[in-house]
Amino acid sequence: MGLNQSNIETLISKESIAKRVREIGKQISKDYAGQEVVCVCILKGSVIFFSDLVREIDLPLEFDFIRVSSYGNALTSSGDVKITKDLSGPIKDKHVIVIEDIVDTGITLHFLIDLFASRNPRSIKLCALLHKPANQVKEVKIDYLGFTIDNHYVVGYGLDASEKYRNLNYVGIYKQ
Ligand code: IMP
Ligand code: MG
Repeated sequence: MGLNQSNIETLISKESIAKRVREIGKQISKDYAGQEVVCVCILKGSVIFFSDLVREIDLPLEFDFIRVSSYGNALTSSGDVKITKDLSGPIKDKHVIVIEDIVDTGITLHFLIDLFASRNPRSIKLCALLHKPANQVKEVKIDYLGFTIDNHYVVGYGLDASEKYRNLNYVGIYKQ
């Protein structure tokens, strides 16, 4: 599945992703030097990015996971965010880094950042692999960003189309 597929056009190669992930990991390690952080993975889309990124961060850190759904199986946002699995531990007084695959409308992240902020963490920052500014309806500040992309539906490196293609090792444009 790392191979090219006829309905998917490579947008960001495996090598470009790896290089950018290393850079972000270095930056986070520098910014949080001497501190402990909780890295929050937003399931399922962020799992590949999360697992690569945390191994590039040279800090004592904890993992936690949250699962939200806003899309069902549709390719556009329903605008309605539901928590289907919450964090397993408290984040009060902790430095939290939320790790997301893609910010599209911004609805999911806007909702999650508000939710986490209400739990009184010491700090909270957002790291996203991709940003698709064309559809943005909610303002969210991305503190660490991999790539800005045009308004394409993308799959691979964790991102899906109806649960498929998450295991591609690159990000590609999905042609229906
Ligand atoms: P938002 O709430 O519209 O910002 O969307 C957030 C979620 O929608 C992301 O975490 C993805 O799971 C999904 N999503 C948005 N755009 C794409 C895409 O191009 N490909 C795959 N999933 C996407
Ligand atoms: Mg997601």
